[in-house]
Amino acid sequence: MNETLIQGAYIVAGLLFILALAGLSKHETAVMGNKYGIVGMSIALAATLWLATKSAGFDALLIIAIAMAIGAAIGIALARKVEMTGMPELIAMLHSFVGIAAVLVGWNSSYETAAYPAIHDVEVFVGVFIGAVTFTGSIVAYLKLSAKMKSAPLVLPARHAINFGIIVVFFAMTIVYVFVPHDQVFLRQLLLGIMTVLALFLGWHLVASIGGGDMPVVVSMLNSYSGWAAAAAGFLLNNDLLIITGALVGSSGAYLSYIMCKAMNRSFISVIAGGFGSDGAVVGEAKDYGEHRETSAIEVAEALKNAHDVIITPGYGMATAQAQYAVADLTSKLRARGVNVRFGIHPVAGRLPGHMNVLLAEAKVPYDIVLEMDEINEDFPSTDVVLVIGANDTVNPAAQDDPTSPIAGMPVLEVWKAAEVVVFKRSMNTGYAGVQNPLFFKDNSAMLFGDAKERVEDIVKAL
Ligand code: TAP
Repeated sequence: MNETLIQGAYIVAGLLFILALAGLSKHETAVMGNKYGIVGMSIALAATLWLATKSAGFDALLIIAIAMAIGAAIGIALARKVEMTGMPELIAMLHSFVGIAAVLVGWNSSYETAAYPAIHDVEVFVGVFIGAVTFTGSIVAYLKLSAKMKSAPLVLPARHAINFGIIVVFFAMTIVYVFVPHDQVFLRQLLLGIMTVLALFLGWHLVASIGGGDMPVVVSMLNSYSGWAAAAAGFLLNNDLLIITGALVGSSGAYLSYIMCKAMNRSFISVIAGGFGSDGAVVGEAKDYGEHRETSAIEVAEALKNAHDVIITPGYGMATAQAQYAVADLTSKLRARGVNVRFGIHPVAGRLPGHMNVLLAEAKVPYDIVLEMDEINEDFPSTDVVLVIGANDTVNPAAQDDPTSPIAGMPVLEVWKAAEVVVFKRSMNTGYAGVQNPLFFKDNSAMLFGDAKERVEDIVKAL
């Protein structure tokens, strides 16, 4: 295989990665998208291994093989162990690996002695900076998501000035670094060292100042940073495929963050500046919404028997209860009776983008009855029964009615407009954002307490 063949393999791999991303944007094509990604990555690995052997001999191949074996062992062990609910933590942890890899590649390149253009110095500085921010930011995100660190935002005085100051210092130091002659090794390493420490601090501070409710956007932002860090490493290693792949991850992560900000009606800047979210305590004033009404599985089964139109809006509780199979069973029983059953999915329902879609697809719920919030919101007024299964913030009318609510302005599923609403949860506790939900106290709402899976199974039995 010569140089041209390797470049050709990289182009094919790059195209397959683009096809993978396109496939992953829809349920129907997601499996195919994954396959494109796997084939693309296999081609990329084979070509890179060949390149390494050609330029550094079989010793390099042996070292790479050992590194890959260790990485694969860790990856397989983590992936086998992780629950669906622990996915965001795992993703945050993996982003930190990309960040530290970019820092190490940058430092390694800074020791290069051959003559090189000034742009190489800029690449080293930018690569180490993005990598270090991604590294500590992802570790803090991991600690917050796994509840090993408080999810409440850290509010340091002058925190915006601190962030802005570090970015200004970074630009100034980059310029100085470019002009320091290459034989001044100590000064160059000192500059790089100080910048690395500042960037590590910035990553920690940026994510520590963000509230729990905004963590989904932060995880996708870190995903984007990890892509740019990989692209920077690609420039340093002169590897076109790494540049292309990094740019794809960077831009798709940035776009996902944008979509999620839109879904929560928050501006990107306000998320970075600190957001809503707490450890489950009620945020703001505790208001008296009156009494809630309780119902039973038998009563809900009766209501469903008489219904024509039913919408199910699942949330994080469906994931923790692993109720998706019972929900799929209920859906097929109702559809067999001629009931029009559909699902309404909020863009941030659950704990990671697409969480509900993955669970429902796993339980073989047909794709064509799983609709996005925008596609279904107008249909609630003509719906007989809505089953809110383990969802809370995403169906909270306070987002529309109470301008003082921490989730004010976030678009929500307007379930309360249906004739009857049944809320499945275990207690009157708040959801992720820590705010009370007035839906539970409305005249047309009833609470069905208990584990979501068990309650849905009870309804299936009673049908
Ligand atoms: P939440 O607001 O978190 O509410 C989930 C509800 O499920 C809780 O009220 C809980 O009440 C109930 N529950 C938990 N376990 C249950 C079980 N075994 N059986 C029955 N009910 C159970 O969920 P949501 O409506 O899906 O909203 C998502 C929230 O998470 C948003 O605030 C969003 O911003 C945030 N978030 C989203 C993401 C992404 S990307 N989707 C990532 C991180 C955070 P009980 O405790 O009373 O049972």
